Amino acid sequence: MRLYSTFVAMFMALMCAVTVSARELNILPEPLSVNVEAEGNYTVTAKTKIVALEELNNPAARFAEEMMLYFGAKKPMSIAKRGKGITLNIDKNIHAEGYEMRVNGEGINIVGGSEAGVYYALQTLRQIIVTNDSVVPYCAIKDEPAFEYRGAHLDVSRHFMSVEEVKEYIDILAAHKLNRLHWHITDDQGWRIEIKAYPELTEKGSSRKETLIGHGAEPKWWDGTPHGGYYTQEEIREVVKYAEQHYITIIPEIEMPGHSQAALHALPWLGCHEQDVDVWTMWGVTPEVLCAGKETTYTFLENVLSEVVELFPSELIHIGGDECPKERWKVCEHCQAMMKAQGLEHEEQLQGYLVTRIEKFLNSKGRRIIGWDEILEGGVTTTATVMAWRGAKIGAYAAEHGHEVVMTPLPICYFDFYQTESREGEGLRIGGHINFEKIYAWDPFDGISEQARKNIIGVQCNLWSEYLKNISMVEGQLLPRLGAMCEVQWSVDRRNEATIRQKMESMRKFYDAYGWNYAPYYFDGRK
Ligand code: ACM
Ligand code: ZN
Repeated sequence: MRLYSTFVAMFMALMCAVTVSARELNILPEPLSVNVEAEGNYTVTAKTKIVALEELNNPAARFAEEMMLYFGAKKPMSIAKRGKGITLNIDKNIHAEGYEMRVNGEGINIVGGSEAGVYYALQTLRQIIVTNDSVVPYCAIKDEPAFEYRGAHLDVSRHFMSVEEVKEYIDILAAHKLNRLHWHITDDQGWRIEIKAYPELTEKGSSRKETLIGHGAEPKWWDGTPHGGYYTQEEIREVVKYAEQHYITIIPEIEMPGHSQAALHALPWLGCHEQDVDVWTMWGVTPEVLCAGKETTYTFLENVLSEVVELFPSELIHIGGDECPKERWKVCEHCQAMMKAQGLEHEEQLQGYLVTRIEKFLNSKGRRIIGWDEILEGGVTTTATVMAWRGAKIGAYAAEHGHEVVMTPLPICYFDFYQTESREGEGLRIGGHINFEKIYAWDPFDGISEQARKNIIGVQCNLWSEYLKNISMVEGQLLPRLGAMCEVQWSVDRRNEATIRQKMESMRKFYDAYGWNYAPYYFDGRK
């Protein structure tokens, strides 16, 4: 009897240990399954070997670098073809971005569906090591993403971010298993990409006289300080390569026909009336847009995009399409003549004509377009992917009508919004209010039929930078809310309100370890 109860007590203790260990892994985003099969830990040090074949050198090298930063070591962990330690392999039967990881006394064995899958396994492992004092409990993890498109946007027009700053942004996305960076590189307030055919775009269009630092338009709210910057094509290549090494595809956005005042300043003949305008120093929507009637506008856009596709391997190219007022077109002889020639009745259709023509051009280059949801108004075909921003209902409409859709609706996905209701201590932001809890609870499939769900290819958060001057401010808006967003993107049906706070406390250690800025509000219990 006594022996029996001792046995029961031991068994119960073991069960408790097992359960607690499994929970303490705190992996974010939530994996498909986590099992703790036996008691014990494997400790990773700067001397632990990574065992991988040549073809897995990239994920191995990235992990080694990331761990070197954590360990504060002089050298990255060594990568060997044979031996014991962290072993990496590929099995094509596993989901391309998925992986299986087993940890026991022999070491850590990782099998990914592809290089990317191995990389994501290593991100999970890095998280456990960093948040668990280098101790990895024996466990078996299976994982794969819910969405194929897991994006974050970054606006570098309103405030320019250096190559190093964009790389840090990429580091943060990669650690949360995102795989798309939507890079907003042109807008009214600055053209940020070197285009060899039109050097004026960056010579004149990349700097503005000053920046609006208040809400509204009183003279005292401008800072009187010129702001500018752009990326050379060499720098663009460097960033694209860096992103690729982190399994992130960069989708460049060249705004058209609206949000183009910086280009108009550089090349006034792009406007309906060759109007002389400044690189804009206001936020919002300007009436100054590209003329959609002149052939020279189309030649310009095609020449720009020809250089863009040489720089960005992404199949999807973002052509903007949002917020284009049509006042100038209504009184433009070229626009009106084009409408007549094409049999168009109203100016929305003229935008549709421009978008469709550019879509055909990009298709001829082997690419596809993605645009903000206004492209639906001009009557694009379902070959265009729609980025739903004006509300989840528009995304639902586009998905029901056969478009592939990236969900990034207001207000949930607008990470430039305030994070607390009181706004106390947040500094000046654009407006709104979106806290961690609202993002975490969001259902991107809400209102979408079972059949149309397959058209929702992914989810994205947006970082507009009107009031974000540098990467530290961007990070403070991104983190910790990206923790909630990545759970929607990677593990939508696996979210668990009971464990998320504990996971985020663990992630906080991770953010601290890498020196990333994050907002305190969620951790302080402020909503
Ligand atoms: C947008 O927020 N104008 C897409
Ligand atoms: Zn015109």
